[in-house]
Amino acid sequence: MTRLRQSQGAAATRILGIGSSQPERVVTNDDLSKIMDTNDEWIRDRVGITERRVAGPKDTVVSMAVEAGAKAIAAAGLTPSDVDTVLVANCTTTVPIPNAAAQVAELVGVKGAGGFDLNAACAGFCYALAAASDMVRAGSAGRVLVIGSEKLTDVVDPVDRSTAIIFADAAGAMVVGPSDEPGIGPVAWGTAGDLVEMITMPNDRYIFQEGQSVFRWATTKIAPIAMRALELAGVQPSDVDVLIPHQANLRIVEAIAKRLRKNGAREDMVVADDIVTSGNTSSASIPMAMDHMRAEGRVHSGDVALLIGFGAGLSYAGQVVICP
Ligand code: UT7
Repeated sequence: MTRLRQSQGAAATRILGIGSSQPERVVTNDDLSKIMDTNDEWIRDRVGITERRVAGPKDTVVSMAVEAGAKAIAAAGLTPSDVDTVLVANCTTTVPIPNAAAQVAELVGVKGAGGFDLNAACAGFCYALAAASDMVRAGSAGRVLVIGSEKLTDVVDPVDRSTAIIFADAAGAMVVGPSDEPGIGPVAWGTAGDLVEMITMPNDRYIFQEGQSVFRWATTKIAPIAMRALELAGVQPSDVDVLIPHQANLRIVEAIAKRLRKNGAREDMVVADDIVTSGNTSSASIPMAMDHMRAEGRVHSGDVALLIGFGAGLSYAGQVVICP
């Protein structure tokens, strides 16, 4: 019988560099209160957002991904030719063909790269990070540019106060490559498909979510998944220096942090709060939060970070990583 050769890759992987991109236009809560029945106090109290960035006509999922991706490659001290695969997690491209990854690869300058898009909504980046790490370990990729990029304002009704106050536009990227020491832990992922109706896009146009139901699910079910990611990586809650949950709502972020602290996480664990000035940017939120926190000096090279994404599907994925 013919026996096929199997590829073999690196023993371990790590994050080599991070980058992010946001549109220039800032929209404050007061700006929104002029076009819908909402106000600054309600949004700050219930969601934690003070302002968000909104794409201009020239900003697209692809253009933001290209900027974030190029920054991540430069931050890794690499050039585009050092990367051979591009993954773009997204759920907001308005047409499925051509996929974003092939366009991003070409524009970043990663000639002939393997590339595909991946949609697990707001959990997409952690899914893509896990896929990239496993591809490098299996030998199907050398170095992978992993991006989460979203133009949510294309799929949000601009006067729907249940979504327009939350969602915003951005991209975040990481380069994943081989490493002597493990820098990306095993992924804890899954779906709650029985709850699929909680976040949908009726009529293929605008996002609809049962806000309270999603809120309850996220505040009760996500911390145990985060604990599972720690267990898979052989890491204690007290080892976690930085917690970066998907930036869906600051109250959800704080609820997850509280549950982890009850389970042994430290009081001085740094908790991402990038939503305050960036809004909810779906698959871009986790890499962008890490990038911003590094720039602010709140996250340092070698820190143990716990990432946990969750959203439509309902899908979730989390892993422990070592910050580059
Ligand atoms: O990223 C993907 C995953 N998505 C999420 O994780 C989202 C999870 N859900 C949430 O973050 C929250 O449920 C929302 C931010 C969407 C909504 O917050 P909430 O605290 O659940 O508000 P609610 O829908 O229960 O509404 C509470 C009150 C209502 O008034 P009454 O009936 O109590 O008088 C609403 O009419 O607040 C009112 N309200 C608003 N008021 C001012 C709802 N939206 C607004 C608003 N501005 N934008």
